[in-house]
Amino acid sequence: MLEIQNACKTFLPGTVNEHVALDRLDLTLEEGEFVTIIGSNGAGKSTLFNAIGGTFLLDAGRITLGGQDITFLAEHKRAAIIGRLFQDPMKGTAPDMTIEENLALASGRSRGLFRKGVSKADQDRFAEALAPFGMGLEDRLKTKVGLLSGGQRQALTLLMSTISHPKLLLLDEHTAALDPAAAEKVMHITRHIVTRDRLTTMMITHNIQSALKTGTRTIMLEGGRIILDIQGKERDEMTVAGLMELYRRKGGGELANDRMLLTKD
Ligand SMILES: Nc1ncnc2c1ncn2[C@@H]1O[C@H](COP(=O)(O)OP(=O)(O)O)[C@@H](O)[C@H]1O
Ligand SMILES: [Mg+2]
Repeated sequence: MLEIQNACKTFLPGTVNEHVALDRLDLTLEEGEFVTIIGSNGAGKSTLFNAIGGTFLLDAGRITLGGQDITFLAEHKRAAIIGRLFQDPMKGTAPDMTIEENLALASGRSRGLFRKGVSKADQDRFAEALAPFGMGLEDRLKTKVGLLSGGQRQALTLLMSTISHPKLLLLDEHTAALDPAAAEKVMHITRHIVTRDRLTTMMITHNIQSALKTGTRTIMLEGGRIILDIQGKERDEMTVAGLMELYRRKGGGELANDRMLLTKD
């Protein structure tokens, strides 16, 4: 489904701040795989997502998605086939528009939206999609999104990013800014949607425990390279301590910070 070959990206080349953020990175994802991504600060995790999403072009390398070469495809065209969530719940939704208007825009139903409003059929469809979240959003379709809590907004953004079945879903620490209860809820909704729709998904998380227990495969990034890639039995049997030991052995240095070790959810 996703194939990344020899991805290279150096920031500020030729300056004292030159930094190799992606170092000949190769990665292949099968359709429906749910990969969690861990690595220390500055390892290149967000840069990898930016490269896939088209925030910048690679210095070298190739990216294909669903058989299409997207290496040079413009960012807005990639956005039509790649869903993306960020840490900041304020990104991804329009605060002055209602829940149903945001969903209508996300599902490509914007034609006539401002003249005629959202159709009854779409309202029903949106309510049905929101109900399983258990947040009561299905009864608040006409509420402005700016009035929602961070967790509610992230749940809505998740639905908006997946409503038109993207070829790939990229989640960049999308629960990290939420309080523990909201984070757990949004993680639950994430697992539900990804599994139900069999979405090919990559999720960056600072939480090693969550990385090992969510999805089907875990990769670890360091210095713009993949230094660990586990799935199946090896992953099932992996512990947080085991992973950190492996990381140290592979020369990754100090992975553990308090945030990674203490967060249990
Ligand atoms: N646009 C940019 N310009 C310069 N340096 C950048 C840019 N984006 C990221 N970097 C640098 O690249 C490295 C990897 O960053 P990033 O991918 O954001 O790390 P993380 O794994 O924490 O998400 C960091 O050293 C960061 O400072
Ligand atoms: Mg990051």
